[in-house]
Amino acid sequence: MNIVLCGDFDAAEARDWQQALAAAMPEAHWLSPGQARAAPAQVQAAVVANPPPGSLQGLPALRLIQSLWAGVDRLLADPTLPAGVPLARMVDPAMNAAMAETALWATLALQRDFFAYARQQRQGLWRPLRQRRADEWPVLVLGQGEMGRGAARLLAGAGFPVTGWSRSGAAAVPGVRGIHGDVALWQALPQARTLVNLLPLTAATQGLLDARLFGALPAGAGVVNLARGRHLVEADLLAALASGRLAHAVLDVFQHEPLPAAHPFWQHPQITVLPHVAAQTDERSAAAVAAANLRAARDGLPLQHLVQRQRGY
Ligand code: NAP
Ligand code: GLV
Repeated sequence: MNIVLCGDFDAAEARDWQQALAAAMPEAHWLSPGQARAAPAQVQAAVVANPPPGSLQGLPALRLIQSLWAGVDRLLADPTLPAGVPLARMVDPAMNAAMAETALWATLALQRDFFAYARQQRQGLWRPLRQRRADEWPVLVLGQGEMGRGAARLLAGAGFPVTGWSRSGAAAVPGVRGIHGDVALWQALPQARTLVNLLPLTAATQGLLDARLFGALPAGAGVVNLARGRHLVEADLLAALASGRLAHAVLDVFQHEPLPAAHPFWQHPQITVLPHVAAQTDERSAAAVAAANLRAARDGLPLQHLVQRQRGY
């Protein structure tokens, strides 16, 4: 099988992925984008990590596009993405576990005021705050897919009352209150001390984290955006922090990445900035996930983790 690997990698990342994929599928012939351009009719599959738009055009034998990223919003935004070719996204238990850890860390830091203590340290201020229990700190997780379910499960195991919102309500996690639909969301928001966003970016979810939603949360709530920057209306977040509606935000993803040096989020005392690392794709496990799907495509077997393009995730 001839497989092209393309993405917005730096040289070291490209080398690591080439090695991991070649080790996971040594029988394949791995092509660089340049080699694929020289012999486009030979390319049978593509392994991609947010490749430049247009990268997958003109490959007539392509039978699978396997993303190394879980979120495929950037791929789907490319109008030249071949329409009839199955698109699979990355689903890797190691990534789900990393995301759950990030959600738990952020929620614990909000519940136990650890971000507030970090601010106090910078001021040289010794001031104990009232300690709160996990069981009095309801958490609302938006999205109950691979990432959201893992986060909800870990948070519930740590003693937080967890509600998980999804589109269909189909994927309930034991110990987590599953809800779906707009009415249920707006009923759940006033109880949520921490809101964790793990939705895919689609036409329906873009800009969901806005002034109206923040206004429905209890005063002093925390917002944790681990999904995509365009879920958040940035000006509304700054206003909600200024008014006290929100106490703190943990942001891993941004409308423009890397976050521009002059962006107000960098210096904001009530915002914790992470450089899109809530759950990195781990090539040690993800290469095996990709290889399993590539072999299935080669052998005409059912493909895993296919994106439904019309729903956007
Ligand atoms: P997923 O398995 O596709 O799950 C998506 C979840 O969102 C599903 O529960 C889905 O509902 C729900 N959903 C979609 N549209 C909705 C809507 N309009 N209203 C309510 N619920 C809706 O995705 P995933 O693997 O968990 O990943 C989620 C996102 O995390 C990715 O798309 C990506 O943007 C982000 N991500 C970030 C990082 C990072 O490092 N920051 C790493 C990986 C992924 P149903 O269950 O009903 O379908
Ligand atoms: C990271 O954000 C991913 O979608 O894998």
